[in-house]
Amino acid sequence: MHPSGRRVGQAHNHMTQRVYSRAAMKILTPIRTGRLVIREFREDDWGPFHALISDPSLVERREELSAEDAARKRIQEVVSAQESPSRCSYELAICMAESGEFIGEADLGFMPGGNEAEIGIVLSRTVRGAGLGTETCRALIDLAWGTFGIRRVVGYCDRVNAPSRRMMEKAGMHLEDERKVYDERQQRWRDACIYAFERG
Ligand SMILES: CC(C)(COP(=O)(O)OP(=O)(O)OC[C@H]1O[C@@H](n2cnc3c(N)ncnc32)[C@H](O)[C@@H]1OP(=O)(O)O)[C@@H](O)C(=O)NCCC(=O)NCCS
Repeated sequence: MHPSGRRVGQAHNHMTQRVYSRAAMKILTPIRTGRLVIREFREDDWGPFHALISDPSLVERREELSAEDAARKRIQEVVSAQESPSRCSYELAICMAESGEFIGEADLGFMPGGNEAEIGIVLSRTVRGAGLGTETCRALIDLAWGTFGIRRVVGYCDRVNAPSRRMMEKAGMHLEDERKVYDERQQRWRDACIYAFERG
């Protein structure tokens, strides 16, 4: 659950209030899945990114990025943080492999201690319900393990966010906990579900 009231270089989940501390200095090679390419953001992604996060259908709105200038600035920050020595999260663009069309954002953030990562995914309304969220979720779990050796991946979502819950279940995650968490961005308590995936 996710995204972006984060300060660059110090990823910060608005529901968990955790600050990630693992540094991961690496530009990611684009990941190819069956239908997708998941790659680092580029500055010219800001337009479609803005369209994505201003969609009123989002369960978790990101009001602070609803102005075009704020979205552009956010993408500039994300791009400049890619080579930062204190990098501790990967905000990634999800694109259709065939057309290159930008369809969403994926996040992988490292938790203190380096043994756990948190994921978040937002897809454009026009492509939801076709399994692309699950495809992305699996790719992030594989990225956490294959590239960073992280065995445990968690995902937070609102209890009423049925597509997100189903997506995480289909990707092999299990419901670990249900509890209230404080959403700093919206300044209110929310009923959250915590899903987890662990390797033996
Ligand atoms: C969550 C999200 C990324 C899922 O992506 P997606 O491509 O739609 O996911 P998938 O198609 O892989 O799986 C969605 C599943 O939810 C199911 N679903 C959709 N709406 C549902 C509803 N209202 N009730 C129950 N299940 C629902 C779909 O049928 C599908 O399950 P199925 O394959 O068993 O039929 C996407 O819906 C999204 O971007 N939502 C807005 C942002 C968000 O809430 N992100 C999550 C925050 S952590």
